[in-house]
Amino acid sequence: MITRKHCVLLALVIAAPAMAETIAVIGTGNVGAALGTELALQGHTIIYGSRSPLGLKALDLAGKTKGNASTSTPAEASANARIIVLAVPGMVVEEVVLGLGDLSGKIIIDATNPLVMEEPLKFSFGVETSNGEIVQAAAPDAKVVKAFNTISWQQMIAPEDSDGPLYVPIVGNDKAAKEKVAELVTKMGLVPFDLGPIEVAHWTEYSAVVSLNNEFSERTNFDLVFRTIN
Ligand SMILES: NC(=O)c1ccc[n+]([C@@H]2O[C@H](COP(=O)([O-])OP(=O)(O)OC[C@H]3O[C@@H](n4cnc5c(N)ncnc54)[C@H](OP(=O)(O)O)[C@@H]3O)[C@@H](O)[C@H]2O)c1
Repeated sequence: MITRKHCVLLALVIAAPAMAETIAVIGTGNVGAALGTELALQGHTIIYGSRSPLGLKALDLAGKTKGNASTSTPAEASANARIIVLAVPGMVVEEVVLGLGDLSGKIIIDATNPLVMEEPLKFSFGVETSNGEIVQAAAPDAKVVKAFNTISWQQMIAPEDSDGPLYVPIVGNDKAAKEKVAELVTKMGLVPFDLGPIEVAHWTEYSAVVSLNNEFSERTNFDLVFRTIN
């Protein structure tokens, strides 16, 4: 079946063939798998950075990823890529970034949320500032772009299953890096918009806490989404 996402991808590929990038995806869980496989469909080469690069999970994911996808340690994957996607548990992100080596000039796409499970299915916000700011402070010479953290991994791979367009807030200090990430987001059939500098990252991260707590509550379920207006 030809979906809206396929049409967007085809139109963009015809209109403006983008430079193929090497992208390191750190973490091979739900989000790492969703973003790695989707970005590979755009023609980019994916290196999964995993704590167990020779483990079955990572190798199996690389095998399912289009192109010459491979697995490596997180530091090796990052060293060989210009763009790095962080898809690790939110409360370990600083430790993970500090272990990635020299990130000067690289684009870091931070998809994490600092969630702490206080009791089964009850989450709180686990940091004083935001993961976006923590990542930028841990890698001051990198261009950190917060993105993808407000939608589910299922929406990343099948945006056409949603009722309408899925908007993705893009947050960060570097204009060109945000434009690059917006291009990747658009080609996934999602709708990016610039929400501001890295200081506003907590707005987007907090929305994940609200959404998750609502999802697992017995109260009326609601959708908390970002949407642009004219
Ligand atoms: N799930 C969603 O729908 C969703 C949506 C938006 C944002 N997010 C955010 O995206 C991030 C990843 O979520 P996820 O659902 O993909 O999580 P997940 O399925 O638990 O995967 C996280 C991956 O991070 C790696 N990792 C590195 N250090 C780790 C550590 N100390 N402990 C555990 N895993 C570690 C692991 O890969 P290796 O074993 O290969 O190292 C693991 O598979 C989180 O910050 C989450 O809040 C999630």
